[in-house]
Amino acid sequence: MAKDPVRVLVTGAAGQIGYALVPMIARGVMLGPDQPVILHMLDIPPAAEALNGVKMELVDAAFPLLKGVVATTDVVEACTNVNIAVMVGGFPRKEGMERKDVMSKNVSIYKSQASALEKYAAANCKVLVVANPANTNALILKEFAPSIPEKNITCLTRLDHNRALGQISERVGVQVSEVKNVIIWGNHSSTQYPDVSHATVISEGAEKAVKSLVSDDEWLKGEFIKIVQQRGAAIIKARKLSSALSAASSACDHIRDWVLGTPEGTWVSMGVYSDGSYNVPAGLIYSFPVTCRNGEWTIVQGLEIDEFSRKKMDATAEELTEEKALAYSCLS
Ligand SMILES: NC(=O)c1ccc[n+]([C@@H]2O[C@H](COP(=O)([O-])OP(=O)(O)OC[C@H]3O[C@@H](n4cnc5c(N)ncnc54)[C@H](O)[C@@H]3O)[C@@H](O)[C@H]2O)c1
Repeated sequence: MAKDPVRVLVTGAAGQIGYALVPMIARGVMLGPDQPVILHMLDIPPAAEALNGVKMELVDAAFPLLKGVVATTDVVEACTNVNIAVMVGGFPRKEGMERKDVMSKNVSIYKSQASALEKYAAANCKVLVVANPANTNALILKEFAPSIPEKNITCLTRLDHNRALGQISERVGVQVSEVKNVIIWGNHSSTQYPDVSHATVISEGAEKAVKSLVSDDEWLKGEFIKIVQQRGAAIIKARKLSSALSAASSACDHIRDWVLGTPEGTWVSMGVYSDGSYNVPAGLIYSFPVTCRNGEWTIVQGLEIDEFSRKKMDATAEELTEEKALAYSCLS
């Protein structure tokens, strides 16, 4: 018997990530090839015409799994009965703007969209925040949607995770699918800590530690970390636009693994509400290694943290604590 459609909200759907993301969702990349979907797309009035153009293209693409499209600038209509919300819409930093000004714009967007989700989304709606500052936008969303369980509010660091897998696969000369268990700790920003201490590669049929295969600690603790941290800037330099297809693809990976589960023995990185694991301050949205089962994520426990990692994990936590304070100062 055919499954009931799942309603997926994409905010900022007329933007460049939105344009890459909605066809992936409509093709089953996010929720599987047998899961029908109804897409809810939200954008702001100046983008209404472009949003309607995206809707026309979705109709023209004749996706068999796509059972309906809501394209709107009304946040209530957009949020009504959605099961999954992918929050891509936000206010970008423009030249000459102070950090606080950008934060203030996004805090007010995420505060009002949180209220709409809380009131109108389906019970147990899962939320993924993509728009930057992703961790702190997710935290504000959590604060202003108190009836949505905190476990349901996450932010995207899977792109950084996938970037780390990609770099290791190129360095070792294996398929990316043979690399697993890298970790992104912390903020989706240049203070994030891409950590390969526990990562492995399948090589000649056996699982081997990335550290021993790469056998170049200087590179792993230096250039590798920098490349992953600054990959977003490198894409902007090359494309004159920020990453979109990889961001959209990793948003699908994030939701797919969360809903359908991570493979046995594999973890992924997700920005989730910290419970104090690994001495990360509780009450931040911080990227941890997680496994997922039955639609729930669990932080991987018991990984050994050396002194180098500790420092990097603390530095990115500190930045998030500062961002949190800045965001709260915008509320008053
Ligand atoms: N977490 C990550 O890994 C990651 C990766 C890449 C980009 N990003 C972030 O994702 C966001 C989107 O990137 P993009 O390249 O698609 O940007 P974009 O500017 O092309 O699109 C953003 C869209 O959001 C819309 N928007 C603005 N305010 C809105 C609101 N209040 N409600 C609904 N829609 C609104 C805009 O009209 C626009 O269509 C940015 O904040 C970017 O920094 C995050």
